[in-house]
Amino acid sequence: MKSILHRALQFAVLLFYFNEVTPLNVLGIFHHPGKSHFFVFEPFLKELANRGHNVTVVSHFPLKAPLKNYRDISLAGKVKVIEDVFPIERSYLTLMKISSFLVKTGNTNCELMLEDEQVQSLWKTNTKFDVVVTELFNSDCPLGIAYGLKAPVVGLTSDALLPWHYKMFGVPFNPSYVPFILTDGGSRPTLFQRVEATVVDLYFNFIYKYFSQRPTRAMLLPHFGDVPDLEELGKDIKIGLVYHNFVMTGSRLFPANIKEVGGYHVAKPKPLPDALRKFIEESEHGVIYISFGSMLQSKSLSKEKLDAILGALSELPQRVVWKYEGSTLPGNPENIFISDWLPQNDILAHPKVLAFYSHCGMLGTTEGMYHGVPMVAMPIFGDQPSNAAAIEESGLGLRIQLKELTKETLLNTLRKVLRPEFRANVKSISRAWHDQPLSPMDSAIFWTEYAARHTNITYRTRAADVPTYQYLNLDILSILVGIPLVVVFVLCKIWCSSSKKAGRGQINRKSKMQ
Ligand SMILES: *[C@@H]1O[C@H](CO)[C@@H](O)[C@H](O)[C@H]1NC(C)=O
Ligand SMILES: *[C@@H]1O[C@H](CO)[C@@H](O)[C@H](O)[C@H]1NC(C)=O
Repeated sequence: MKSILHRALQFAVLLFYFNEVTPLNVLGIFHHPGKSHFFVFEPFLKELANRGHNVTVVSHFPLKAPLKNYRDISLAGKVKVIEDVFPIERSYLTLMKISSFLVKTGNTNCELMLEDEQVQSLWKTNTKFDVVVTELFNSDCPLGIAYGLKAPVVGLTSDALLPWHYKMFGVPFNPSYVPFILTDGGSRPTLFQRVEATVVDLYFNFIYKYFSQRPTRAMLLPHFGDVPDLEELGKDIKIGLVYHNFVMTGSRLFPANIKEVGGYHVAKPKPLPDALRKFIEESEHGVIYISFGSMLQSKSLSKEKLDAILGALSELPQRVVWKYEGSTLPGNPENIFISDWLPQNDILAHPKVLAFYSHCGMLGTTEGMYHGVPMVAMPIFGDQPSNAAAIEESGLGLRIQLKELTKETLLNTLRKVLRPEFRANVKSISRAWHDQPLSPMDSAIFWTEYAARHTNITYRTRAADVPTYQYLNLDILSILVGIPLVVVFVLCKIWCSSSKKAGRGQINRKSKMQ
């Protein structure tokens, strides 16, 4: 009896021990002022605080309502928050503009952050942090701060990996099957698309190294004395929490320290505002939802494209809810509800919403998948091309390119995704996505705590460290191809010279005989 009691007590103590999480001192550094990015990270940071960790967050988006254990170091007001800035167009020129936009704003935001006195007090007071969580995007500035604070780093993304993240984590970038984030090929690119991806990848990596990492390191030096190259600090990141899920983004080759946690930002749907709810619920044939996100302005669509969209919508019996920044649409169609702000997640959660016409930002795409709404994917820039390819390849929707957008092509595509069989398939993919051993949020929190608990083990794959000539096996190739070549060459030389000698001997004999 006593021993049973003893066992039970032991068990209870164990349970208590495992449930009790030691509160961590967590520093979040999110110095990119992109609203759509912070939308993703905020729920994660709040959840860390809710679970008892002491969370300090440097960002442009301080919480509106105070939260226990959550302290803001606000950068708000220092720069203009990025939204509604890109016109809807696509070209290589846009790609170049994006590269310079990324490095320029990354550098500016780093400088602004480092000059902030409250931020400086983090290292001037020698505050000890158990882990730094930060966004991996267009600036490695936070890695220098984490180095100065001697804290392990967990990196988060709100999109697929950018070109410079592959080398950072030792993830193979093989353009023949790895979907390239900025272009269209998906996992089955044509030869042209592979060449395109390779060139754009080299270009972006070059720009990042010389116009972002180098100047950023120079900005960090006055504050921390010695800071290693940021490429090296990038390789020291313990865990990368990427906003992927293989059900949607396809099965990728990731090392063990990259975790797919896509979907943790999706909140429980809230009731819709009355007017919108009535509009949706009173639709006889369901609703199509249109949004081109917070960074693109649908009112900058050319007249021709706008007419094409309106033409296609007018042929369908469905009602339409459209995030549109203008005050009216030409012709004021009665079946279209427009507003410049819409509760997207709550709309997509409504069972009457049958299709989502989207620019394929990672947030909207994830929400569409979460709620099992078939998508018409029209990518414009950034990670949208690879998201659109993933949507089509996984069966969640169909792609339409902006340059091919006409009334007929759009109508055709919308009709296909509105078919009940198409929807049933999307619902089954969505169910597979929901079927996970740990929710994406639990997983993200677990691996963050893990990185803080186990600082001394090896996280990175050796692939991140081997020199490029070894990574590409150029040395092996040159031996395997080179040695036989040398042997053949030498043999050929010997044979040639001996046969020449023999030939000359014959000639000599012949001439003597004459
Ligand atoms: C929480 O973090 C702040 C740094 O932002 C630190 O000053 C404070 O001492 C921490 N609190 C606890 C209980 O560790
Ligand atoms: C990690 O390793 C260092 C150096 O080997 C050692 O001083 C430190 O105590 C170790 N930390 C943990 C948590 O084991």
